[in-house]
Amino acid sequence: MRKPIIAGNWKMNNTAQETKNLLNELIPLVKDAKCEVVVCVPYTDLYAASEILKGTNIGLGAQNVHWADKGAYTGEISADMLLELGVKYVIIGHSERRQYFGETDETVNKRVIQALKKGLIPIVCIGETESERENGLTDEVNRRQLTIGLKDISAEDIQKIVIAYEPVWAIGTGKTATDQDADETIGKIREILGKMFSKDIAQGLRIQYGGSMNAKNAQGLMSMPEIDGGLIGGASLKAQDFSIIVKAADNF
Ligand code: 13P
Repeated sequence: MRKPIIAGNWKMNNTAQETKNLLNELIPLVKDAKCEVVVCVPYTDLYAASEILKGTNIGLGAQNVHWADKGAYTGEISADMLLELGVKYVIIGHSERRQYFGETDETVNKRVIQALKKGLIPIVCIGETESERENGLTDEVNRRQLTIGLKDISAEDIQKIVIAYEPVWAIGTGKTATDQDADETIGKIREILGKMFSKDIAQGLRIQYGGSMNAKNAQGLMSMPEIDGGLIGGASLKAQDFSIIVKAADNF
């Protein structure tokens, strides 16, 4: 059985003070969750979040990590910096990083390798754009992102990661993949992973859906057999909505 994981990706939202307010509201709402609950907050909010989340069932995540241990990389953040703040998870290869900040499958791979070396759990994002989908390239794009992004990862290490399938056209648009579409594509992603590693390993890997997942559609998405959780943007900024998504995951 794969334990569902619901992760909030706050993106570039919330100051440290706003973080305290939102987490104080969220903690009691999800304290009995059976699924894994994670919030991936901006770097400047990590300290405040780590203090508030101590002793709770909410795991702390960051939104990126650099591949070097340390050095002359102005503006970047290392794994050790994250670990010292109690960070356990890190989003890698989000489509916004790929789209606006030059992230490539190769840099995703370097970051994943570093995260695993340091003991962080990577949440690796993949997914096709609207035009790629229209041209029937969804599976090919996912295959490429997985093949290069997860290159040289050992069979042991791969079992620690979480994959997030986030079709780019569904992010922040209010357009969600249908339950069946998301399930089918995630099933294909699992097949690709099965060929890259082994069928057993692929069966054990958790694959989230992300893209306009919200309090209304979470139940349907979570009921699908291949979908093991969600990576939530907009709806993770509201404690009530996020807790409803967590409850939806708890039913499966
Ligand atoms: P939205 O839930 O706002 O569509 O964002 C999804 C996402 O990009 C999560 O990483």
